[in-house]
Amino acid sequence: MLVLGIESSCDETAAALVTADRRIVAQAIASQDDAHAPYGGVVPEIAARAHAERLAPLIERVLREAGVTLADCDAVAATAGPGLIGGVMVGLVTAKALAMASERPLLAINHLEGHALSPRLADPALAFPYALLLVSGGHCQLLLVEGVGRYRRLATTIDDAVGEAFDKTAKILKLGFPGGPAVERLAAGGDPAAVRLPRPLLGSEEPHFSFAGLKSAVLRAADSGLHAPADIAASFQQAAIECLLDRTGRALDRMGGVGALVVAGGVAANRRVRVALEGLAAARGLRFVAPPPALCTDNAAMIAWAGIERLAAGFPADPLDIAARPRWPLDPAAEPVRGAGVKA
Ligand code: KG4
Ligand code: ZN
Repeated sequence: MLVLGIESSCDETAAALVTADRRIVAQAIASQDDAHAPYGGVVPEIAARAHAERLAPLIERVLREAGVTLADCDAVAATAGPGLIGGVMVGLVTAKALAMASERPLLAINHLEGHALSPRLADPALAFPYALLLVSGGHCQLLLVEGVGRYRRLATTIDDAVGEAFDKTAKILKLGFPGGPAVERLAAGGDPAAVRLPRPLLGSEEPHFSFAGLKSAVLRAADSGLHAPADIAASFQQAAIECLLDRTGRALDRMGGVGALVVAGGVAANRRVRVALEGLAAARGLRFVAPPPALCTDNAAMIAWAGIERLAAGFPADPLDIAARPRWPLDPAAEPVRGAGVKA
């Protein structure tokens, strides 16, 4: 089975061809970093236009590189949400047109499900159920992944996502956009104990996250002029990691029967984050699984793979009039948590 995947929910335009036996036959990603850099963040209208310009040539390229045509594909999978709605619509409408023209099934994929199942694309031995820390620019959640389409959210952020905190720290330290990798690079040369920063919600009963107070403290530390930027970056990264560890540990206390701790999403590309979580998993006697960094940040292979998993699990194809969704929680039964700017 060969599935074409399309991703356009934020600032990466991507297409990929993936087989049911976990081969990424071809993939292409066009980053929009240059287009958004002058604004220090993703501008939705610019993103939507860039997706519209770049997507069709990218799809042509992966088909050409793989030496196949649409007729050789068994399904067309595209992110249908959550994300910036203009970009999601570009990808979904394109997928609908291709599915209709080729008379192949359309698979409307939840972007978060793409992240959640991506570790199984990288690791055939990863079985359900597993504990998943999903850490990206828009989300910070702890999920019990029971099976394809079965996700129980145990915790989420009550304010900012952890990737957002990395991006804002980068902005405060004038490191440019995108921020996460830049903070990681600068932090490598700094002292993680140099600046005293808060660890919001550390030790609290519910395993939820909070990063807004940490970001404000970074701003005050930078404004004070007392600290080297590398020390601020390292201290921020250290505080963020301690929060992730403590909260993940708390959630694991509530999950029986899982064999693995899995991390996915853009922040999972961070080496220190991976090493810290690996230590936590080892201490709990759990396997640790993290996809290679290129599968952690947004990509289309994970969308194609989620489509393959859904088909294999017996989920039906989606109708051609399915709508794009700006918000689409993985666990619809999860209770909203109190706090400003709750992320879906
Ligand atoms: O999953 P992703 O590519 O897009 C979303 O769905 O949000 O995640 C992007 C986020 C950004 O906030 C980015 O700064 C962060 O992941 N990120 C990192 C690193 N690479 C990407 N954060 C920390 N360290 C990194 N190396
Ligand atoms: Zn993502």
